[in-house]
This record gives sequence, C-alpha cells and structure tokens, in this order.
Amino acid sequence: MAAVVVPLFVMMLAIVSGTAVADPDLLQDVCVADLTSGVKVNGFTCKDGANITATDFFFDGLAKPGLTNNSMGSLVTAANVQKIPGLNTLGVSLSRIDYAPGGLNPPHTHPRATEMVFVLDGQLDVGFITTSNVLISKTINKGEIFVFPRGLVHFQKNNGKVPAAVIAAFNSQLPGTQSIATTLFAASPPVPDNVLTKAFQVGTKEVDKIKSRLAPKK
Ligand SMILES: *[C@@H]1O[C@H](CO)[C@@H](O)[C@H](O)[C@H]1NC(C)=O
Ligand SMILES: *[C@@H]1O[C@H](CO)[C@@H](O)[C@H](O)[C@H]1NC(C)=O
Repeated sequence: MAAVVVPLFVMMLAIVSGTAVADPDLLQDVCVADLTSGVKVNGFTCKDGANITATDFFFDGLAKPGLTNNSMGSLVTAANVQKIPGLNTLGVSLSRIDYAPGGLNPPHTHPRATEMVFVLDGQLDVGFITTSNVLISKTINKGEIFVFPRGLVHFQKNNGKVPAAVIAAFNSQLPGTQSIATTLFAASPPVPDNVLTKAFQVGTKEVDKIKSRLAPKK
C-alpha cells in the first residue's frame, strides 16, 4: 500500500509545486536581495540577516499616478525586486500602470509571470492573444479584474475621455517584459531589415520608418 501511495504523493507534490509557483520554493524565511553583489545566481544573493530592516520590504512608488506624457500615453511603474529587495525569492510583485485618454500599453509579453490587473480608475479595452492566434478581449471598468496568462502577448488601451489606472500583480519577483514593437524594431544591435521585410511582408522603406519612430530618444 505505502509503496504505491508514496510515489503518488511525491508525484502530486511535484505537480502542485511545479505549476503553482513561478519561483523556486523558499529555503529560508527571507533572502533580502543584495542588489550590489557581483555574485550571479538565479535571482539575487541574500544580504546579511543582521542588516535587514523594514525598508527592505517597503515601497511608496505606486502611491501617485505616473507621468503619461510620452508617445504611448501610458507609464508602467514597477514594484519588483529591483525596487523592493525583500521580494527576492518570494515569487510575487506588482506594478501600477497609468493611461492618458487614448493611451496604450503596447502589445508585450512577460516571459516569467502571469499578470492580473485591478482597475483603480477609468475604463480600459484589454486583450491577449492565444498561441492558436485567437484574441481574447474585454472592456473592463473601475473595480474589475482581468488576467493575462504567462507568456502571452497582451495590451491595454484607454479609449475613454478620462485617465485610467490599474494595479497589476505578477507571480514572479521580476516578470520581465518584451514589448513586441520595440523588441523587433529597436533592438541593439538592430534586427536586420531583411528579416523584418520578409516577416512583415513589406519593403525596407516601411521597416526603416518604423525603426526611426521607435528608436530610443537621445
Ligand atoms: C551590515 O551593516 C553594518 C553596519 O552598517 C556594516 O558595517 C556591515 O558591513 C554590513 N554587513 C553586510 C554584509 O553588508
Ligand atoms: C512630462 O511632464 C513632466 C512634468 O510636467 C516634464 O518634466 C517632462 O519633461 C515631460 N516629458 C515629456 C517627454 O514631455
């Protein structure tokens, strides 16, 4: 009996721990990131336990709206391990995203996390695209929640006449972001024109136009 039950239990544990968390299981209470350490590990090395303070677990950077006077009309303010060292190894983080009227958080992916957004203010048209190339989209209002599954391309657009804002939660201390347009058209060194002309079935002129518009501002 036990011979059957034990492997089954181990298998179930492996399934639960393998699918429920993005970051590895904790091996200590806390591992406050030593962001200055030159030692590279999966995450950050822990700073000396004697030197941990409440400041390591605190951040007030999401209290106020971010400035949205940029070409996209939106701003993501992250509250991840780079801002809150105490998040190291804990597998969670937040962001605040602000949107001007007409503002867009352009199509992007988070390779390391599922995201859920909670609307603080305004109304947003949001969506993600599945690997079967199906768009799942919805209009969401203040107080409502929407989920963007890990790794899938997604966006949020404020089609309203007033500013909008969300709090976004992630199951990673550092979800990572790849913005599709800038990844392809503003990488350094650049992705070759002949890759982009063929992929998008357009000419070099169109590719160079997009590249010049998305080039990092000097
Ligand atoms: C801990 O803090 C003390 C006092 O500020 C400092 O002297 C020491 O170098 C710190 N230790 C580490 C490992 O950062
Ligand atoms: C956005 O507004 C702030 C404050 O009003 C200003 O300091 C900043 O230069 C503006 N940025 C752009 C890109 O216009």
